[in-house]
Amino acid sequence: MQPDHVRIFDTTLRDGEQSPGATMTSSEKLEVAKTLSRLGVDIIEAGFAAASPDDLRAVKTIAEAVGVTGVEGRPVPEPPTICSLARATTSDIDQAAEAIAPAKHGRIHTFLATSPIHREHKLRMSKGQVLAKITEMVSYARSIREDVEFSPEDAGRTEMEFLYEALQAAIEAGATTLNIPDTVGYTIPGEFGERIAMIRENVPGIEKVVISVHCHNDLGLAVANSLAAVQNGARQVEVAVNGIGERAGNASLEEVVMALYVRRDLYGIGTQIDTTQLTRASRLVSKVTGMVVQPNKAIVGANAFAHEAGIHQDGMLKHEETYEIMRPETVGAGKTQLVLGKHSGRHAFANRLMELGYPVSGDGLDKAFARFKKLADKKKFITDADLVALISDELYQPTEYWKLDKIQVGCGTGMPTATVRLVGPDGQARIAAEVGTGPVDAVYKAIQSLVNVPCTLLEYNVQSVTEGIDALGEVSVRVVPGDYDLPPDRINPQYEQSRARVFHGHGAHTDIIVASAKAYIAAINRILALKEGTRDENKAAGSAA
Ligand code: KIV
Ligand code: ZN
Repeated sequence: MQPDHVRIFDTTLRDGEQSPGATMTSSEKLEVAKTLSRLGVDIIEAGFAAASPDDLRAVKTIAEAVGVTGVEGRPVPEPPTICSLARATTSDIDQAAEAIAPAKHGRIHTFLATSPIHREHKLRMSKGQVLAKITEMVSYARSIREDVEFSPEDAGRTEMEFLYEALQAAIEAGATTLNIPDTVGYTIPGEFGERIAMIRENVPGIEKVVISVHCHNDLGLAVANSLAAVQNGARQVEVAVNGIGERAGNASLEEVVMALYVRRDLYGIGTQIDTTQLTRASRLVSKVTGMVVQPNKAIVGANAFAHEAGIHQDGMLKHEETYEIMRPETVGAGKTQLVLGKHSGRHAFANRLMELGYPVSGDGLDKAFARFKKLADKKKFITDADLVALISDELYQPTEYWKLDKIQVGCGTGMPTATVRLVGPDGQARIAAEVGTGPVDAVYKAIQSLVNVPCTLLEYNVQSVTEGIDALGEVSVRVVPGDYDLPPDRINPQYEQSRARVFHGHGAHTDIIVASAKAYIAAINRILALKEGTRDENKAAGSAA
């Protein structure tokens, strides 16, 4: 039986995490999984278990914490299905099965490329060999779990006749969901929609399975292609929050969901997503991946509901629907509220965080409250946006190998200088001073002279959280690591594969120089966590398709 709603299969934690620099720690992944569950996502692709033991552990942790009973605030009674990706090999499938084992609803998602270019140059397999492998591996996965998804990778460029054969083989071997990926974002909406219609017409047994689509955004058409597929009978859409993913990314969750919601007159089918959680989910993912959301991004961008032109403002005052097709509250982007101040107590602070979806208690609450009090000394009103920045800065930081203790800068037209005091992994404080081309450069040089983890700064972004001269500033950086000396036995073997990776860091403070230092140190701590491999935050370097 086909689902009565479009299933939202979220791949932020798998394809999304494959975006350069979007590496997340295990605790960040868990937080994202909880948020996805609260959104009402049907299936969470929690990772690619075979990529490394750390990835397997991360998927398992999510299966235990989110996949057994869901989480408080989930809009639907059943917990989400927890899925792991697996190449078409028994070893990958075994590891996926192990990782999802604790979940009430678990899914193995296996894939094999079917397009001529992949068959010839990547797999070096004939059509017959590809079909045999699909039959063998889908049957194997089905012998372990009831819920098996199969993806013919690069389906968008696969000959239709062969695609029918591949899909038929997967159905006969027991696949329950067939995913049609446009792996390289090559197709256009009319064409992709027609592919789905033709698959429905020509593949025997197709009515027994759910048709899914997984569109990449290389031509900026991922959302349009996904929606065209829904119009032609697809009942699962694979998406990522903020549209992150390989290269130009995946279809954006918030855009697909809101298109189906706003134009329900046209589609006649919706999702079970709680749309009021969309903005919060977007902010969290942006924070933990370091991927800044462009201001004009649909649904969740800072300007998505801002009306600038006089004629528009006039129209809005007369009637909101003149220039608004959805209300900001519907996506959880209600007006910023002035909430707390200097005299607010711990209880009010904890309550507001809870309302914003951050249930913090114990030690975490103590630390966050101490920071809130310091902020309230500098800033008269603390808004929701300030609280979110503050709590994200507190909760979603990598293990602190190096920690900022004190910082002093002198700048102007002379010689910008910075003195920094950092506490190292051994608990000892160390001081360094440097001159730079500007205060941030001087600070980064001083930090480098202490930590000695050479890296190149790819991107430096600063933005204020709210309006006003006393606003909290948020800085995010992306860096590529160079080499530094470490005894070989202390190097995590996966680090070698991660050389091309980009690491991000973020920091928030009313002083943007302090925020800049914190962001840079956070990125360095991520490099150390991966290279030295002693903490659970190590991210596997492997990536999927
Ligand atoms: O883009 C792709 O083809 C994928 C598959 C693994 C589904 O990510
Ligand atoms: Zn993909």
